[in-house]
Amino acid sequence: MSKKNEFIQSVKGTRDLLPAETPLWQRVEDEARKVFAAYNFREIRTPVLEQTSLFARSVGSDTDIVTKEMYTFDDRDSGSLTLRPEATASVVRAYIEHSLYNEPGIQKLYYFGPMFRRERPQKGRYRQFYQIGAEVLGSDHPAIDAEVLEMLVLLLERLGLKEFRLLVNSVGCPKCRPEYLKVLRKALDEAKARLCEDCQRRVTTNPLRVLDCKNEADQAVIEGLPKIIDHLCSECRQHFDSVTMDLKQRGVAFEIVPRLVRGLDYYTRTTFEITSGLLGAQNALLGGGRYDGLSEMLGGPPAPGFGFAIGQDRLVLTVEASAASRPAGPLAVYVAWMGETTREAATLLARELRRAGIGTEISYHPVKLKKAMGAASKLEVRYTLIIGEEEVASGNYQVKDMGTGEQQSVSAGDVVAFLKQKLREGLQAESQLLEQK
Ligand code: HAM
Repeated sequence: MSKKNEFIQSVKGTRDLLPAETPLWQRVEDEARKVFAAYNFREIRTPVLEQTSLFARSVGSDTDIVTKEMYTFDDRDSGSLTLRPEATASVVRAYIEHSLYNEPGIQKLYYFGPMFRRERPQKGRYRQFYQIGAEVLGSDHPAIDAEVLEMLVLLLERLGLKEFRLLVNSVGCPKCRPEYLKVLRKALDEAKARLCEDCQRRVTTNPLRVLDCKNEADQAVIEGLPKIIDHLCSECRQHFDSVTMDLKQRGVAFEIVPRLVRGLDYYTRTTFEITSGLLGAQNALLGGGRYDGLSEMLGGPPAPGFGFAIGQDRLVLTVEASAASRPAGPLAVYVAWMGETTREAATLLARELRRAGIGTEISYHPVKLKKAMGAASKLEVRYTLIIGEEEVASGNYQVKDMGTGEQQSVSAGDVVAFLKQKLREGLQAESQLLEQK
C-alpha cells in the first residue's frame, strides 16, 4: 500500500466531527439555546483570534494555560496574537469595547465555539475543543450565582444526565486572599520538598495554583494545607453563605470542596465545577465562577461577573455514555419519480415538502420502483412518495409508509398537509414511548 500523504490527517489534538456524530452536538446546542433563552441570555460571538496580552492579563501570566498551552504567533502587522484558549476574557473585552455597560440592566450573554489549548491529547482532552459558555456582567448579587447554577443543572437534566456532582467553593477577594496566601505560603515552605517541580516554583510565583495541581504525588500534601474557606473576610463569607442558602432553597444539590481554586487567575469568591463519573480521568464537565475585578483589570469600568463554560466534547461523551441520547429525527420522506415527464412535478413537490420543514430526499435520475424502495430503506425514511406517469395524470400520488408497508393514494394538493399530520402523530407516539421508559 502506498504511504498516505501526511497532510491527509488532522492535526494532533484536533478532529473531524462526522455526520454520524453531529446530530448529538446539535441536540446539545439546541437544548442549551432553549434553556439559556428561558433565563433571558442572549448570544454573543467573538473572534477566535485575540491579542496575546488579553489572556496574559486576565487568565494570568503564571497559569498553565498562558505559560504552556497557548497557540501564539507574531502577526505581520498586529503584534502577538493568540488563538483563544477560553472566551471569558474575550466576552469582557467585547463588553468594554462596545460599552455594553451603558445598556440598561445586567448583561446575560452566552456563546458556543472552538477554543485552543496545547495540552496532551487524551479521551475528553483535545487541542481544539468546544465550549458552551455564559457570562453575567454587571452585578455581584449572590442570587446570580445560584440562578446560573440552577440553569446549568436544568440543562444537564434536560439532556438526560443524572450522574453528576456540583462542587462549589469560594476563593475570597483581594481583601482576604493576601491574608490567606501568607498562611498558605508558610505551610507550603514547610512542605515544599515534597512537591513537584512546578509546584516548588509556584510556591513563590502563585501559591494558589499549588491547590489546583493535578500531579498524583502532590495530592496528599495538598490535602493537609490550610483551606481558603476558613480565611474569608466577612463580606466574602456572607456572599458564600447566601449562595449556598439560595442553592438549597432552589433544590440544587452541591458539595463544598475547599481545594477548588480553578486554573485561571481572574476568579474571586464563588468557584465551581460539575464533574461526571462517566468521563474517566478528564472528569470536569464544566467549570466557572465569579470574577468581580476582571473588567477593571482590563481597563474597563467596575463590572462584577459570573459565568461558566461547559466542555461540549465532554458533554457529548457524557450524554452518549448515559444512553440518554435520542437519534435526531431521521430524514422523513423520499420522493421517487419514474419517467422524465414526472420530474417537474416531483421536484416541485420536494421543494414544497422542504419548505414545510419536512426532511426530504429526492432521486436525481428517474428510478425503477424496486430500486427506489431499496434507496428509501437505506435512507431510513418514514415515507416514500411514488410519482409515476399515471400518478401525475390522475393527480393522486402514492404514499408508502415504510414502517408498516401500507400504501395509500393522496391527492397532489393534500400531500404536504397529509405528511405533516402523519409525522406529527409519529413524533407524539415516540415521545410518549420515551416518557414511559
Ligand atoms: P475551564 O475550566 O478552563 O474554564 O474550561 C471549562 C471546561 O472546558 C472544562 O471543565 C472542560 O470541560 C473543558 N475543557 C477545558 N480544556 C479542555 C480540553 N483541552 N479539551 C476538552 N475540553 C476542555 C474556562 O474556560 C472559563 N472561561 C470558564 C468560565 C466562564 N469562568 C467564568 N466564566
